[in-house]
Amino acid sequence: MPIKITNICCIGAGYVGGPTMSVIAKKCPEITVTVVDINQDRIDQWNDPDLDKLPIYEPGLKEVVRETRGKNLFFSTEVDKAIEKAEIIFISVNTPTKTYGKGKGQAADLKYIELCARNIAKVAKTDKIVVEKSTLPVRTAAAIKNILDHSGNGVNFEILSNPEFLAEGTAINDLLYADRVLIGGEETPAGQEAKDILSSIYEHWLPKDRILQTNVWSSELSKLVANAFLAQRVSSINSISALCEKTDANIEEVARAIGFDSRIGPKFLNASVGFGGSCFQKDILNLVYIARTFGLQEVADYWEQVVILNDYQKRRFADHMITTLYNTVSGKKIVVYGWAFKKDTNDTRESAAIYVVDALLEEKAEIVVYDPQVSEKKIYADLDYLGTRTPEENRRLLTVAKEPIEAAKDSHAVAILTEWDEFKSYDWNYIYSLMLKPAFVFDGRRLLQKSTMDAIGFKYYKIGQK
Ligand SMILES: NC(=O)c1ccc[n+]([C@@H]2O[C@H](COP(=O)([O-])OP(=O)(O)OC[C@H]3O[C@@H](n4cnc5c(N)ncnc54)[C@H](O)[C@@H]3O)[C@@H](O)[C@H]2O)c1
Repeated sequence: MPIKITNICCIGAGYVGGPTMSVIAKKCPEITVTVVDINQDRIDQWNDPDLDKLPIYEPGLKEVVRETRGKNLFFSTEVDKAIEKAEIIFISVNTPTKTYGKGKGQAADLKYIELCARNIAKVAKTDKIVVEKSTLPVRTAAAIKNILDHSGNGVNFEILSNPEFLAEGTAINDLLYADRVLIGGEETPAGQEAKDILSSIYEHWLPKDRILQTNVWSSELSKLVANAFLAQRVSSINSISALCEKTDANIEEVARAIGFDSRIGPKFLNASVGFGGSCFQKDILNLVYIARTFGLQEVADYWEQVVILNDYQKRRFADHMITTLYNTVSGKKIVVYGWAFKKDTNDTRESAAIYVVDALLEEKAEIVVYDPQVSEKKIYADLDYLGTRTPEENRRLLTVAKEPIEAAKDSHAVAILTEWDEFKSYDWNYIYSLMLKPAFVFDGRRLLQKSTMDAIGFKYYKIGQK
């Protein structure tokens, strides 16, 4: 029987740490869960009495936080104190692509992970299970173990890999009804015990047969491979969407026809302006880097193509807009619906909207953006981060609208770049009446009905269809 856990902590109160720990707190009321972060603003937001001000927008999240916060779920900046008290420490900090030095643009930047390991080594006075929840390159657990074993405190650490498979926008549901939980650990008696202890947490709400135990490297690699396979499906269907636009084939019909094949399945076959989010690109590039490091050039090239195709799709969409708008968008008002990388999240990391808009701004378009969950501050920060033009220029050329419909007044075109449900329910007849004619709609998410939009009078382009 595994030992009884009463206190866990999670380092990193982000899109993974926050929701994951909230669900653990909900399902394990006898365990005290503390989520710590060095970012005081983020912790303050997690502690805000107004649950609409949590730092992350996720359907169902505020209800779980309301139920658990202050009872057995706590958010704090007191990292050392939380580490000291916990029997299990989850590391859920960010692992972005390196922007400097060796592996720049591909390898994962592990500086935050290493800082956590060093901190745990410094503070821990009792034995701990350290769980990698962040997505990491293969063999990182070995590096963490190395750092911890040299702490000199005589403390025993078991390192587990427990990658998170939640998708933003459906995180709470994904956690509550996970397809599987993956736990990788050393194949020693102590490693096995640690795996069983972590498994017992998830067994509070998931059937045991969905909790898979592997060796530590299989677990680390499986997470990278899962994201690579998912992104590959998006790039595969997007590549065919370009071909459909040149022929009389319709991507929806093609996707449906192939999706009915039970070997292929219907999911992840929606053509779009391209995948975004903090994970797909970073994890594939990481896989590419690892393969290249081991001299597997063909393997690296194969996976890199998924990212190359995704960049092509975003560029292709922007180019198509410019060409259709009579080869110039200079001084033309274009309204962008959606900035988040997908619906039901306020996360904008690697969102296709950023790159499409950047290309339009290069052509001196006047952009108005509306997104139901993304703040004006974030939109400007995303554009400024690219460094294509000065912050002043970004603010001169782009404005952020709080109201979507009137924003369309006197515009030449609307571009739909996130699949928010509310865009479907807009009064498109009224929007048409407000716009300059011919009125163009570029639907990068295949959200609207072509026949309806054509009947209203729009010049309507739906990605993947002539
Ligand atoms: N976002 C997703 O959908 C998703 C899904 C599965 C896995 N992942 C992986 O999970 C990890 C975390 O992703 P995220 O989206 O939650 O990132 P995030 O950027 O939202 O959150 C990470 C948090 O860690 C904090 N942090 C960094 N260093 C710290 C330190 N030394 N001490 C305390 N706090 C520290 C940061 O301040 C930040 O708030 C990444 O490896 C990611 O690849 C993400």
